[in-house]
Amino acid sequence: PLPEPFKVPLPIPPVKKPVRSDARADYYRAVQKKAMVEILPGLKTEVMGYDGLLPGPTFDVRSGRNTVIEQVNELDVSTVVHLHGGHTPAASDGWPLDLLMPAGGQGEHEGHHAMTGGDMKMGSRTYTYPNTQRAAMLWYHDHTMDYTAPQVYRGLFGLHIVRDDEEDQLPLPTGDREIPLVIADRAFDDNGGFLYPIAKDGVGVESQYMEGVIGDVTLVNGAPWPVHEVDAVRYRLRFLNASNARRYELAFDRGPAKFVQIGSDGGLLDKPVEHKTLVIAPAERFDVIVDFSQYQPGDEVTLVNKLDGSANVMRFKVARKATDDSRIPDKLSSYAAVPEPTGLTRRQWRFRRGDAGGHKGWTINGKAFDPKVMQAQVKLDQYEVWSFVTDVHHPVHVHLAPFQVVRRGGGHPGAYDGGWKDTVDIRPAEVVDVLVKFTAHKGKYLIHCHNLEHEDMAMMAAFETI
Ligand code: C2O
Ligand code: CU
Repeated sequence: PLPEPFKVPLPIPPVKKPVRSDARADYYRAVQKKAMVEILPGLKTEVMGYDGLLPGPTFDVRSGRNTVIEQVNELDVSTVVHLHGGHTPAASDGWPLDLLMPAGGQGEHEGHHAMTGGDMKMGSRTYTYPNTQRAAMLWYHDHTMDYTAPQVYRGLFGLHIVRDDEEDQLPLPTGDREIPLVIADRAFDDNGGFLYPIAKDGVGVESQYMEGVIGDVTLVNGAPWPVHEVDAVRYRLRFLNASNARRYELAFDRGPAKFVQIGSDGGLLDKPVEHKTLVIAPAERFDVIVDFSQYQPGDEVTLVNKLDGSANVMRFKVARKATDDSRIPDKLSSYAAVPEPTGLTRRQWRFRRGDAGGHKGWTINGKAFDPKVMQAQVKLDQYEVWSFVTDVHHPVHVHLAPFQVVRRGGGHPGAYDGGWKDTVDIRPAEVVDVLVKFTAHKGKYLIHCHNLEHEDMAMMAAFETI
């Protein structure tokens, strides 16, 4: 039996404290471990989490300062950590074969990966993030080759929020009026354990889940359909869709509140954009202001998913009137859309179901992921136009650099395409063109579908920045 909605208070993931800091860096230590956590009231779920938490702790960091994280693996499987949206040197980007093996010896996946030659480490591995980027809400998650989906499903994901002076100067809601909302659907067995339909041979999922794994319980910050009490004032809600495969069209069940979007995956927009509903694909982030002063104390407002028959997501209870000195400025940022230069290198990336052999079910440009093959060599410091072409829905993600959507379906970018993006929601049989420029770091990086089942079933390609 599923729990009653709107009973569990919304948790806020704890902010991680550095173990030490110096002039240029903050040093952290996180332990990947199993823990029994009460997600469904009265039941215990075994999670696999950073510090045993789902979501993991939030890293709240400054632009331009190094974040150095020692990751310790106390699990019985090997892992890889990727900072999604990070401008990260290749050695710390979480190449899917740069495995962090459990301290005590072999993890389950080693046989599978024995031939593949990544940079393996035993017990602990240190990742360095220079945070050479604008303020934005990034996230970190597992990226182990072939096992990302089940490992993220069990809990290996968390937030990494970059802050900067430009954003700090804005009169936006802050403190407990700035709320991260990490949405992830999950399925549970009767004892509270996660149900994940892993394939019999241990790689990928059973064939009826080729499209992706969805669950019947919506978690927000790890709680099922939670409830949160708000003052009748403006709030900054920072949405991440951390679901493996589910898309949402978020809406309030009653007016008049709207979503005033102020930021996207890669930070602030130039100016606010109003939406009645928010369509959010896996891995996308939307930074929005919602004005609860349009409601009366005592009102309850439910956030629903219109792509699933207005299914519940969470509820806000408007508790009381309060003073509010926040504002939404007309100009948010010096961000400017870059005009598309002519004569650029163009590349096409075709995302299609494909028979690439064995259990592999999804391809890019007709190929299943092969870590030994670089599908492109891309020069640093030059804009390129990349075209993404789909068969069915695919949320396409590029590592290292953000991009701007310049065309969707041959026309203008869509309502949700504004700002710097690192993941773009591409609808069936659609073409989306983006303008992208990689800087600073040479090495091997990835482009892939962020439907995590598609990713594990090989819808990923490597390219090299040169
Ligand atoms: Cu969030 Cu390569 O992924
Ligand atoms: Cu896909």
